[in-house]
Amino acid sequence: MKIHNWGIIGLGKIARKFADDLRLLPNARLHAVASTSLERAQAFAAEYDAPHAFGRYDDLVHCPDLDIVYVATPHVLHCENTLLCLENNTPVLCEKPFAMNIGEARRMVAAARQNRVFLMEALWTRFIPAVNHAFELVEKGEIGEVHTVKADFGYCMPFDPNSRVFNKALGGGSLLDIGIYPALLALFMFGKPAEEDILAAATFTQTDVDESCAFTFQYPGKRLALGHSTIAANTPVEAWLHGREGTIRLHPRWHHTDRLTVSKYEGRTEVKRDLRIPYGGWGYAFEAAHVMQCLENEMLESDKVPLGFTLNLVETLDAIREKVGLIY
Ligand SMILES: NC(=O)c1ccc[n+]([C@@H]2O[C@H](COP(=O)([O-])OP(=O)(O)OC[C@H]3O[C@@H](n4cnc5c(N)ncnc54)[C@H](OP(=O)(O)O)[C@@H]3O)[C@@H](O)[C@H]2O)c1
Repeated sequence: MKIHNWGIIGLGKIARKFADDLRLLPNARLHAVASTSLERAQAFAAEYDAPHAFGRYDDLVHCPDLDIVYVATPHVLHCENTLLCLENNTPVLCEKPFAMNIGEARRMVAAARQNRVFLMEALWTRFIPAVNHAFELVEKGEIGEVHTVKADFGYCMPFDPNSRVFNKALGGGSLLDIGIYPALLALFMFGKPAEEDILAAATFTQTDVDESCAFTFQYPGKRLALGHSTIAANTPVEAWLHGREGTIRLHPRWHHTDRLTVSKYEGRTEVKRDLRIPYGGWGYAFEAAHVMQCLENEMLESDKVPLGFTLNLVETLDAIREKVGLIY
């Protein structure tokens, strides 16, 4: 069994959960971590048994025997940190949102292609077993043709101008942090909406990032996607796929759910089937396992989250931002 040596850049909240989940994978090992603080890197490395710790991101890419880097810094640094790795021929799993705008995203994809190095956006939702099962049910025609996708993601975050969620210089706001999930569900179901078929509205915090954002995408064939994000309330965090013959509900929190309800109409009677698909850990092991499989197959991009999908997602977020006046 090939052991894959992982590196992590940026040792915040998500890095910790990801490192926890790497421990669930027998073919993964945390090999090196890099922080803006050497002390933090050394403490993290000691906690997770990683043999190498660096106090500068630039040093990590020169670490011997490194197979893949997980970029877990604030949004505004994803492009710079990813380019650093790709230009040193190191594969990258980059946190969402992949980039701040389509210009950055295209540079990242071009660097991956020029250097022939693997690159994927860390859209873990695509790999959660229950979410994947919902997609398979749709594919099999279980609920007929899907005409409406609805999803929300909101949590109540006390105002803190220094947190990356409120700080404009770090790419703050609800859309890029959590509104990206309803958007990606729409794109997985229906593809990229035409720019003129996107409607959007947002309210703003005193730091001038979006507090709440609502959007609709209209598609040919009487299909609609509705999305909502907010950092000002705990919303249900549910998703619904409505088809002509039934509905699939992805229970809270839908983006890493372990529960689906499939409802179908038999005449006027609604018949419900509850499905539980539990998993261990935080939910990040599935994307990490997929990345390692891609590397073993010498793939330069994922077939589940291809770079074309990521570019479409970034362009869609750009279009929403343009409509609501959210400029970084
Ligand atoms: N997939 C998911 O479920 C998920 C969940 C949460 C977040 N995320 C994404 O992951 C990224 C990180 O989120 P997080 O919640 O882990 O953030 P966080 O707790 O604030 O951690 C970000 C880390 O980046 C590093 N950093 C470098 N320059 C920084 C700067 N100028 N200001 C602040 N931090 C800086 C810091 O680590 P060092 O100083 O140690 O380098 C910091 O701890 C975001 O892009 C977010 O969208 C994804």
